[in-house]
Formats: sequence, structure tokens, C-alpha cells
Amino acid sequence: MNNKISLTVNGIKHTLEPIPGETLSTLLRNRLRLTGTKIGCDEAECAACTVLIDGEPVVSCIYPAERADGKTIVTIEGLAQRVHEEMKLHPLQEAFIEHGAVQCGFCIPGQIMTAYALLNHNPNATKDEIRFALKDTLCRCAGYPSIENAILAAAQALRTGEPVQKPNIPDSIHTHKSMVWIKSSALPFTQMTLFSMVCCMPKFAAR
Ligand code: FES
Ligand code: FES
Repeated sequence: MNNKISLTVNGIKHTLEPIPGETLSTLLRNRLRLTGTKIGCDEAECAACTVLIDGEPVVSCIYPAERADGKTIVTIEGLAQRVHEEMKLHPLQEAFIEHGAVQCGFCIPGQIMTAYALLNHNPNATKDEIRFALKDTLCRCAGYPSIENAILAAAQALRTGEPVQKPNIPDSIHTHKSMVWIKSSALPFTQMTLFSMVCCMPKFAAR
């Protein structure tokens, strides 16, 4: 009987001693130090912990690590290296930044890995198909419109090989005095977001 787990994570093969009861998310985070995979609910409800196993999106918080024996895993850390040989963000990662789809960021690895699997299967995914694919991937900051726009922009970039299209923001907004208000308000908003996360979701604070 084979008493080791052998798995390939982001192109690197690992052979590890099994730990009874260990989940794949814990193995990735604690033993391989791939902390980009987040644990939100830890009970298959939020999909923050989504990784690809043999090309399919899977919630890793309930996936027994021992079942990953012989499998190929891709985590959020694996995407940046997959475009060119040099370290470069994947178009999905670029698009999430360009379109302001990242707020607190906790759900974003799960959103991106789910979108990555979708676009691998369906490079022409429509907005409705994106919504359906992400229906179980929860964002408590409610950034869904920006997330959808980012995925559409990344899909276009992947299809055409062109750079990720930036959102259409009128030049005038950059000089408008409301921008001064937004900039001066950014810090309190950030503090508010962190405060609500720490108070309302104690599990987040611990991770
Ligand atoms: S942490 Fe895995 S589904 Fe929420
Ligand atoms: S950005 Fe989605 S939970 Fe905060």
C-alpha cells in the first residue's frame, strides 16, 4: 500500500506524508505555503477555497488531501507563470485589477480560479454564463458587476491576444473635484471594510 501522497501543484511534484483528516486547502496553505487559497466558511458554502483539480474547479476545504494523490492541482499562485516564461500576471488577474473587481480580496482567488476553469471550457462565455458559473462563489463585498466585467475583459484578451481592455472612464472624472472626495474618503472606507470583516466574520480575522 502506498503510504505517501504524490501530487503536482502548479507544475511542481510533491510527495508528502498523509495526515489523517487533512483537507487539501490545509495541505496547500500549511505545508506548501500556498496561502493564496483562502478559507472562508470551511464547509463548502462560499467557494473562496476553489482550486483546479485535473482542470475542474473544486472547493478544497472539504476535499480530503489523500484523495489528491496522483492529481494535478492549480492554485491562484500558478496562474501568473502560465502566460509567459517570465512572471507576469494572467489576464484574469490583470483584468480584476483594472476593473476594480478586488475589494477586500478574500473571495478573489476563488472567483478567479472559477473563471479560469470557465474560460478554459468556454472562451466565449457570455455575461449570463459567467453569472451562472460564479453563482456559488460568494463575494460579501458584493463586487459582482466589476467581477463580471473583468472576466469579460479577460476573455476578450485571451481570445485576441490583445492587452486587457481598461474600463471606459471619462477623462473628466480624473480632474473632477469628486475624485478629491473619493481619494480623501478611501482610508475611512478601507478601515470600515476591515472593521466589518473582523467583527462579522471572525474566521477571516484568524486567516
Ligand atoms: S472555505 Fe471552502 S467553500 Fe468556503
Ligand atoms: S472582494 Fe469579495 S469578499 Fe471582499
